[in-house]
Amino acid sequence: MKKLVFLTGAGMSAESGISTFRDSGGLWEQYPVEAVASIEGYWRDPALVQKFYNERRAQLGSVVPNEGHKLVASLEDKYDVTVITQNVDNLHEKAGSKNIIHLHGELMKATSSKNPNDPNCIVELDENNLEIKMGDKAKDGSQLRPFIVWFGESVPMIEPAIYEVQKADILVVIGTSLNVYPAAGLINYTDSKCKIYLIDPKDVDVNPSLGVHHIMKGASEGMKELCALL
Ligand code: APR
Repeated sequence: MKKLVFLTGAGMSAESGISTFRDSGGLWEQYPVEAVASIEGYWRDPALVQKFYNERRAQLGSVVPNEGHKLVASLEDKYDVTVITQNVDNLHEKAGSKNIIHLHGELMKATSSKNPNDPNCIVELDENNLEIKMGDKAKDGSQLRPFIVWFGESVPMIEPAIYEVQKADILVVIGTSLNVYPAAGLINYTDSKCKIYLIDPKDVDVNPSLGVHHIMKGASEGMKELCALL
């Protein structure tokens, strides 16, 4: 089976009703990113950060995967698929994708604020337990925090993601402005024989020598066109 790797961003979930970050009206227009999505912001005002993620987690209950997520999952019948996502929502999982690498963490998980990547401290949240409150403790006794990779923190899953991209026969980039590294740098790890597709209604800055095939559509319509091309 050919290896098909997806790299998805906030635009993948836009049609499910989840705001992107840098489109007009995006999350970073409503919140100062350094206050709610950086490690300095967390230590400056942890209660504000908990509130920001509690609000985003509460929204997850009312959103469902879109046609794009479902088509990504359906390709597992014909390809060896890996989904590398910058998104912290669980819509790829809900759509049925099995092999997912979350580069920036997961909204439905919580962890230690002392050692966020300690596997013994990472816990699943669920619809009956969506809030993290100040005073909630992780297994190591530290304050419980969102299992999110904030600006200023390392991206532990970047090595496994690079390994997958290096082996890809086809790479499909969907719904990311490719503004944030190291995720945005993944596209440069493709083998010279790898076919690269980009699905995004807007122009995205990519290295022209990569010969990227840009499907200038949203995730759902773009995935329909891609499935016809594959
Ligand atoms: N379908 C596909 N793409 C879309 C759609 C859609 N319906 N709507 C918007 N887009 C595209 C936009 O054109 C843009 O290129 O999705 C992209 C969204 O870009 P960003 O908002 O920058 O989101 P993303 O690239 O995922 O941000 C990366 O930045 O803030 C951090 O950690 C956060 O993971 C996030 C990272």
